[in-house]
Amino acid sequence: MKKYTIYKCVDDKSFGLRAKSVFLNAVYGARFYPEAPEDLPRVVLPTGNTPLPFYSALRDMADDVPRFEYCQLDEYIGLSDGDERLFSEWLKHEVLDPLKITNRMIFNSAADPHSEVERIRDWYKEKGKIDVAVLGIGENGHVGFNEPKSQFHARANITNLAQSTISSNEAYGKGAIPKQAITLGIGDLMCADETILLVRGEKKADILMQALFGAVTEDVPASYLQDYQGRLTIVGDASALSKIPKSQLLHH
Ligand code: PGA
Repeated sequence: MKKYTIYKCVDDKSFGLRAKSVFLNAVYGARFYPEAPEDLPRVVLPTGNTPLPFYSALRDMADDVPRFEYCQLDEYIGLSDGDERLFSEWLKHEVLDPLKITNRMIFNSAADPHSEVERIRDWYKEKGKIDVAVLGIGENGHVGFNEPKSQFHARANITNLAQSTISSNEAYGKGAIPKQAITLGIGDLMCADETILLVRGEKKADILMQALFGAVTEDVPASYLQDYQGRLTIVGDASALSKIPKSQLLHH
């Protein structure tokens, strides 16, 4: 039974606008407003090239975006504060500062990784689940830094990056990147009330098809979405969605 919506967008602008409107609906739907800061919706946001039109659309209405608590999805291990390779820095400049999002659950790259993972796990135990998870997908099917063979039940953990991930992330042009990272686990993402998967470009077409319609397997981490019980929306461009059966798509 179909339990998700897939929006096919004709260009980057409509991709950004569609992602923005799905996101705003999700955030507004998550809680009543106004709320105390500790009750703000908990929102996971991805880095990468894919979400750029979405972030641009959000910045265009920065003053009108509802407040939320940003929760980091993944981060390299071992970088110092302010390092431009940090995902937290990337998101800070791209979206958090422009939107004036001040509540931030950021991973500390420079901390002892084992203690940091414990801290993140404890935080989720105390706070509860994610309200809205906005995610990208890697060419190898990873979500966050959950590389192939990551366990579906795993919570925040330390991960060794796949060579293909290292190569694609070094292509962002900020220099060599660490080989290890901390990521929220699939088990954390599985508990989110709502998930918005963003996908652009033909390099993602095969893996998206496998993730949504192939075997549910830890070899393709994003295939957990087939077992996911929350509300799932996929926003994609024509290239990324080229392998998905037309009957599954909404056109925009
Ligand atoms: P990309 O990265 O948006 O730059 O393709 C996505 C990912 O690897 O998760």
